[in-house]
Amino acid sequence: MFSLSNRNALITGAARGLGLAIARGLAQGGARVALTDIDADGAEAAARTLRAEGCETTALKLDVRDEADFQRGFDAVAASFGGVDILVNNAAVTPHRSLWDITTAEWDEVMAVNLRGCFFGCRIAATHMRERGWGRILNLSSLAGQQASSVTGAHYAASKAGLFALTRCFAQELAPHGVTVNAISPAAIRGPSLDELDEPSQRRFLATLPVGRFGDETEVAAAAVYLASDAAGFVTGTTLDLNGGRLMR
Ligand SMILES: NC(=O)c1ccc[n+]([C@@H]2O[C@H](COP(=O)([O-])OP(=O)(O)OC[C@H]3O[C@@H](n4cnc5c(N)ncnc54)[C@H](O)[C@@H]3O)[C@@H](O)[C@H]2O)c1
Repeated sequence: MFSLSNRNALITGAARGLGLAIARGLAQGGARVALTDIDADGAEAAARTLRAEGCETTALKLDVRDEADFQRGFDAVAASFGGVDILVNNAAVTPHRSLWDITTAEWDEVMAVNLRGCFFGCRIAATHMRERGWGRILNLSSLAGQQASSVTGAHYAASKAGLFALTRCFAQELAPHGVTVNAISPAAIRGPSLDELDEPSQRRFLATLPVGRFGDETEVAAAAVYLASDAAGFVTGTTLDLNGGRLMR
């Protein structure tokens, strides 16, 4: 039911963290995966790691802020794989900043990567997937876009809230064409970005999670595998929350 054999996936921001974990999950499900990132060396190193684990993978530099670069990268992957079936809009920047200290430049940068980059990705993939009559688009949002965030900046929270609206707009447009668009909304997942938080902040954060532990990257990857599979064909325009019970709705 959840097999991804013969599916081709492109993941943005896949050099590390959740992007890499999702790429690994999709590849273990049978998909060919293209690991893209602004950090070309990081993407290449990640692809080498997955290849050594037996995954079919390629790496590419792709800056989601630049629509032409996104289109070029997407087309290159589509040409080498023979199409893209699954797009994971995962790339993001996560500045930890008091809302009093956010500069205009940082606001614009966060929006350009987190929100506009996802818009470019959805639009580029939409055209391609509509023609093929099947597709899956997954947008990595965040609990920070659903609740006031004590950890990340207001610009990050606003960009992630915007992803829910984008997800619904593209889901509605693409529903008749066999293409689903869904958001994954994690919080407090163990990995490099959580490790960057100081110990007291991590402890305070942990205390707010009813399950009493941080999430694991493989749990987010499993959600991505489900939403990318045939089994999730009736699920579109929705949000899958992975937050240890912090937000129940
Ligand atoms: N880790 C968590 O607990 C958590 C919680 C909520 C939401 N998320 C979301 O999940 C996603 C992944 O999170 P993560 O913790 O793995 O992040 P991360 O910071 O570890 O990785 C982000 C990746 O995006 C890349 N990137 C940055 N700017 C880019 C650009 N312009 N073009 C292409 N790539 C770019 C980085 O090089 C990096 O490899 C993000 O969208 C994040 O907002 C994560």
